[in-house]
Amino acid sequence: MTARFVTENVPPDITEALARAGSRLGPFGNQLSWHEEVGSTNDLAAAAAEAGASEGLVVVANTQSLGRGRVGRSWSSPPGAGLYVSVVLRPGGSALRLLTIAAGVAIAEGVHAASGLETSLKWPNDVYVDSRKLAGILAEAGSSAGAVDHVVLGFGINIRRATHPPDVVARATSLESELGRDVDRGLVLAECLAALSNRYGMLQTGAADDVIAAWRKRGALLMGRAVEWADDGGSRRGRAEDIDATGALLVRVDDRIVRVISGEVRWLA
Ligand code: BTN
Repeated sequence: MTARFVTENVPPDITEALARAGSRLGPFGNQLSWHEEVGSTNDLAAAAAEAGASEGLVVVANTQSLGRGRVGRSWSSPPGAGLYVSVVLRPGGSALRLLTIAAGVAIAEGVHAASGLETSLKWPNDVYVDSRKLAGILAEAGSSAGAVDHVVLGFGINIRRATHPPDVVARATSLESELGRDVDRGLVLAECLAALSNRYGMLQTGAADDVIAAWRKRGALLMGRAVEWADDGGSRRGRAEDIDATGALLVRVDDRIVRVISGEVRWLA
């Protein structure tokens, strides 16, 4: 066992899968804390980062009572139905820029390595199967003296069918409902952390182009489609075309290309 478990109660399916992944986990193979129930794993990881936790700390919960999604939404986190995970990162300047793009690629790759399921990415990093969401990622930065000190990267992956609020049921899917068989959540966690280690490593070693290329391969779901996004208190519409080297979404509006750098887009058709 390479990992030093911060809590005593890590379930055996998790410890065994992490042990098998070994050095492929990179910085995420050193410390893991497991919780039966938390508000949000992102909050626990942020508190640990502020208290000086090293890069690579992994916080996992069996359920979250206040799971958070992007743009102010909640993330439904029923007990045992998904992976609810946050990792502490301390990225340098260039790695910071493409972190959310790299995370989307890594989760899609980890899911594929663990289960064989192919997924698509909706900019910036939602993981979809056809038009249903399988996984989401929330990156939250913590600053000190005006500079980013750490980033908590949280991801939620729906593993099993579960009772969710009606709006989630209408647009979400799970690994087991897609595959029609049981899925080893420990293996999904281990492969996602291994893929994150690989893609994060690329950002740090100047191989960001490979990360962008991997995103493009999985991002075709959105490209060419009419989209809407929030801008300056209003909304704008255009046709999604590509992402650029900074990870910004390029949208054609009439005869101009507009760079969308944050937030999210909504499909119109
Ligand atoms: C989204 O697609 O809106 C992002 C969802 C992110 C959910 C994960 S679950 C683990 C971590 N803790 C949270 O409260 N949120 C993230």
